[in-house]
Amino acid sequence: MESPIVLVTGAGGALGRAVRERLTRDGARLALLDRRAPTGETSGPAGDAAASQAPWAAAVDLLDEAAVADAVARAESELGPVRAALLLAGGFATAPAAETDLAALRGQLDLNLATAASVVRALLPRMTDRGEGTIVGIAAGQARRGGAGAAAYTASKAALAAYLRAVDEENASRGVRTVTVFPMGTLDTAANREAMPKADPAEWIDPARLAEVLAFAVRFGPRARLREVEVHPDA
Ligand SMILES: NC(=O)c1ccc[n+]([C@@H]2O[C@H](COP(=O)([O-])OP(=O)(O)OC[C@H]3O[C@@H](n4cnc5c(N)ncnc54)[C@H](OP(=O)(O)O)[C@@H]3O)[C@@H](O)[C@H]2O)c1
Repeated sequence: MESPIVLVTGAGGALGRAVRERLTRDGARLALLDRRAPTGETSGPAGDAAASQAPWAAAVDLLDEAAVADAVARAESELGPVRAALLLAGGFATAPAAETDLAALRGQLDLNLATAASVVRALLPRMTDRGEGTIVGIAAGQARRGGAGAAAYTASKAALAAYLRAVDEENASRGVRTVTVFPMGTLDTAANREAMPKADPAEWIDPARLAEVLAFAVRFGPRARLREVEVHPDA
């Protein structure tokens, strides 16, 4: 079977690295987008053809719509049609609502919603023309159950989930579906270990396990589908 082409944003980040590793082992061909072009190192099984190919990668500011459209067009002309997109770019900010000015709110909406929407806009007409595509976004537990102390982050992740639901409703009949994955806790990343040295990482979610879920979301179907998935810490 031909290797599916999967576009990954935020591919140079902590979760991005785990996702690249997982998808490479699954035999996907990758188109990686991040502010700095992610390097190609992943470790697939020895002798695996997909794993031995360096992934396609581009440095792009995901808030620059023209640059995103250009990167998506280049990825498709050099690799082929993108079957699925994993929209991982995003980030966290803490501040209660009373201390969140509009600039901070807009900053989080840019980081967690607009970085995904720019890619969706570039990919959607291509996917609907082909009648096939899966778009997976990554929200956060705060968007499910509230996020005291992180008002803008919570709002931006809830907005991302609502946006992806709307994209799904508009395009599912044309073969394009969206999935939103909610990590219901902190990820065990180097940045989080440094930021929270007193916390017990055993209570956090292993990015490699979350990457398994994201890879599963990419290949799941047909005749049954995922829409929203919660992934909880196992502690
Ligand atoms: N880590 C957690 O505990 C946790 C929990 C729940 C949900 N999540 C979500 O999971 C996703 C991945 O998290 P992570 O820990 O892997 O984050 P990360 O290590 O910070 O990776 C995010 C990547 O996205 C890139 N990015 C951000 N804005 C961009 C832009 N405008 N253009 C191009 N690239 C951009 C970042 O580049 P720069 O560094 O250059 O900005 C970075 O490489 C995020 O959406 C995050 O909100 C994380």
